[in-house]
Amino acid sequence: MLSAPFHPLQRRVVFAKITLMNTETKTNNKMDLITSLCRRRGIIFPSSDIYGGLGSCWDYGPVGVLLKNNVKAAWWRAVVQLRNDIVGLDASIIMHPQVWEASGHISNFSDPLVDCKTCKLRFRADEINNAEKCPACGGELTSPRQFNLMFKTHLGPVEEAAGVVYLRPETAQGIFVNFKNVLNVSRKKPPFGIAQIGKSFRNEITPGKFIFRTREFEQMEIEFFVPPIEADQWLEKWQQERFNWYLKLGLKPENLRLRKHEADELAHYAKGCYDVEYNFPWGFAELEGIANRGDYDLRQHQVHSGKDLGFFDEETKDTYLPYIIEPSAGVDRSLLAFLVDAYDEDNAPDDKGQMETRVILRLHRALSPYKVAIFPLFKKPELKEIAEKLYQDLRVQYMCDYDERGSIGKRYRRQDEIGTNYCVTVDYQTKEDHAVTVRDRDTMEQKRINLSQIKEYLAGLLEY
Ligand code: GAP
Repeated sequence: MLSAPFHPLQRRVVFAKITLMNTETKTNNKMDLITSLCRRRGIIFPSSDIYGGLGSCWDYGPVGVLLKNNVKAAWWRAVVQLRNDIVGLDASIIMHPQVWEASGHISNFSDPLVDCKTCKLRFRADEINNAEKCPACGGELTSPRQFNLMFKTHLGPVEEAAGVVYLRPETAQGIFVNFKNVLNVSRKKPPFGIAQIGKSFRNEITPGKFIFRTREFEQMEIEFFVPPIEADQWLEKWQQERFNWYLKLGLKPENLRLRKHEADELAHYAKGCYDVEYNFPWGFAELEGIANRGDYDLRQHQVHSGKDLGFFDEETKDTYLPYIIEPSAGVDRSLLAFLVDAYDEDNAPDDKGQMETRVILRLHRALSPYKVAIFPLFKKPELKEIAEKLYQDLRVQYMCDYDERGSIGKRYRRQDEIGTNYCVTVDYQTKEDHAVTVRDRDTMEQKRINLSQIKEYLAGLLEY
């Protein structure tokens, strides 16, 4: 039984461990393998590691930041670069406090919180089925009280009520309040969208499952403004479009599903909603929501700001508030799904020809942190010179890694574990035939390619 008083920051960690022990033993194995790989290979570290970590906060390491940037770039490419009906935005995290009154976050964005009077652990009442006893120690629980999930702070040096501001809990509001600004400058008219990637903050009562639910996370959101009469058809288009995005980036079809919300599940602003769900080690869970928000947001901001947010249609001479279709995805949650899906193990010979377990991240080439790794077979100047030259040439085009330390087998294993698509080795024969060995991560097949053709050869393999 836990009886010692906990530092408030540690309490969360203890609860996360108990949840894991009680309900997630089956999923531990795969998640443990992934979290350990993430730490070992510089993908994700616990935040403030040298101080023992901070509950539900994570840092992306040298490899992780590349993967994260690739997830965001793939999304931006699909929704902004390759479309002519969406433009981008980067709004500030701290917004006018009235935004959150208008959006309903001040009155509605809360969860029911209960504390155990004995062990002091904290729970979300709805997550423990409104139980009367503490699931950890059986102690008495307090009555539920509503806990607003927004992080509050003060603008300026004086902590006075007039200066209260919030860290945004969704990027969406930055888009709604910029609707007119963008409309005026972008020469777009409904149906059109605004896309944004950025940090959001929620003081979640029960964060957990690694980076699945955290208090600081990134979202990739589109607000797509449409004539009200077209809203249903755009909702259908967008749910399919977003589902296909995950498929195109390699998630296995059997691990993905679309789930339509029942009427009683809908948020107060939503007229319809789909979730794209992924089969995480603990079961299917939300990756992205695609909602028809109606004209709720523009109407609320119109009332609270006193500004006309209607769109005047030159053709019909009609002024109306567009409906909004919102595909809203999480960067960190998508990244976790890509990691879980890509994680694989097989058997491969080690340097002595003995079979050993090989860990591979079979990431799509659009997402892999490094596309190519270049090795001199040995640390000899004549091999290093060619390998370094090749590295300089290729890294202009792709994120490349260079490694000259350790046995070739160990270097392959390291690259497999971080998902590098191709390893290129310069050996003694290279001096004779001007060719290098290109080894494929997934098939382990090796091909000799002439140095004069290597760029073209890799371009053909890495194009997407
Ligand atoms: N603007 C709508 C909106 O924010 P949401 O369902 O609350 O909707 C959208 O969030 C997406 O953001 C989720 O599907 C998830 O991918 C991600 N997300 C939400 N809360 C999160 C959290 N605490 N940690 C990590 N990702 C989160």
